[in-house]
Amino acid sequence: MRVAMIGAGYVGLVSGACFAEFGVDVCVVDTDPSKIEALKAGRIPIYEPGLDRLVEENAREGRLTFTTELKEAIHGADAVFLAVGTPTRRGDGHADLTYVFAAAEQVAKAAEGPLVLVTKSTVPVGTGAKVKEIVRRVRPELEIEVASNPEFLREGNAIGDFMRPDRVVIGVDSEQAAKVLKRLYRPLYLIETPVVQTSIETAELIKYAANAFLAVKITFINQMADLCEKAGANVHDVARGMGLDGRIGRKFLHAGPGYGGSCFPKDTLALARTAQELGAPATIVEQTIAANDARKEQMAQRVIDACGGSIEGKTVAVLGLTFKPETDDMRDAPSLVIVPALAQAGATIRAYDPQSDHAKQYMPDGVHFAKNALDAAKGADALVLITEWNEFRAIAPAKLKKAMRGDVVCDLRNVWDPVQMRECGLAYSSIGRP
Ligand code: UDX
Repeated sequence: MRVAMIGAGYVGLVSGACFAEFGVDVCVVDTDPSKIEALKAGRIPIYEPGLDRLVEENAREGRLTFTTELKEAIHGADAVFLAVGTPTRRGDGHADLTYVFAAAEQVAKAAEGPLVLVTKSTVPVGTGAKVKEIVRRVRPELEIEVASNPEFLREGNAIGDFMRPDRVVIGVDSEQAAKVLKRLYRPLYLIETPVVQTSIETAELIKYAANAFLAVKITFINQMADLCEKAGANVHDVARGMGLDGRIGRKFLHAGPGYGGSCFPKDTLALARTAQELGAPATIVEQTIAANDARKEQMAQRVIDACGGSIEGKTVAVLGLTFKPETDDMRDAPSLVIVPALAQAGATIRAYDPQSDHAKQYMPDGVHFAKNALDAAKGADALVLITEWNEFRAIAPAKLKKAMRGDVVCDLRNVWDPVQMRECGLAYSSIGRP
């Protein structure tokens, strides 16, 4: 089989490399020549564990190629995947579909024969129908089937998620599209992955519904954490006690500074807009968005309060800047709100993130970057942990205490043990734990 993947971004690159690993011939196409040059030279523009090896091996075997020429990429392809970005449109919160529609039109123009055009980008319900209109208009004589095949991969775990997904969702309205997608995913049928075959509209909505539900779940436990703090209860045990109920499930009940990343903020907003427009408002999603936005601001205030109401002239160490560990992605990271707010309140910031080299450019001027976590803590009056990189878990509280000038530690991810921290003389606070 042969596949063209349009877009060498996160989804396109991971999916392309994984299909190649399944034995499919994959050509990844992107309009950015520097990206394609880098990929041809074996350099991966994003940080994702295991991706470099997968790309290198499959490129060496000749199953994975890169080009800037769309025509070359789709030559002989059974399926063409649209994996271009769908950022939030300025002004109204809708997903910006410019790239999707432009790519669909180019594919239709360049197509040499029948193919299946599959949307992998997260797109609002109804987009598949519009893509279909475009290809019918441009090439009425050609059999171009349209399908939706949303991706559920998590950054930092993307390859595992692709290779062993909880489910594959296939939205189709033709036998041919179903046949091609089933052949592509055959290795997953062998490991008995559930496949949800449904209409294109339903597949599109599944993706948004899943992401919005997870965002609601996180926001719910964050609010329970606030309540726990007032009531003297422990959110960790509340989450465990709730999560052991099979109907609820244990995952995504980890209280923190609010969700970020490339998907949840964008997708919740887009779903809320679509739901409003179609006259079925998703008020629970709207509330989630507002609560999560407010939470990031509150996190900065929490640090200020822990320092006695002012951080003017104080030094605050910040550990972890990316939106979550094992990624260099800064999109909608809580640090983007928390760090500027702390700087604005008059603090000197000493930051460290294992991906500092990338994260740096998103931070306000004047932030000092430290070599490692203890270096960041050196001479700090207060320390705030924003992202739970594993290396932070292993830091001995005594070393932290020794490095710091002050004793305030705000752990926004509950990675440290309150008893140990306090035994070392640190004024430790975490999220929703007494
Ligand atoms: C998410 C979805 O999991 C994935 O299925 C979808 O396709 C894309 O969006 P990703 O954005 O990579 O993936 O990260 P994820 O691990 O889901 O975390 C998202 C955010 O929620 C992070 O900021 C994370 O810190 C936060 N989070 C997650 C919590 O605060 N608590 C939790 O319990 C889980």
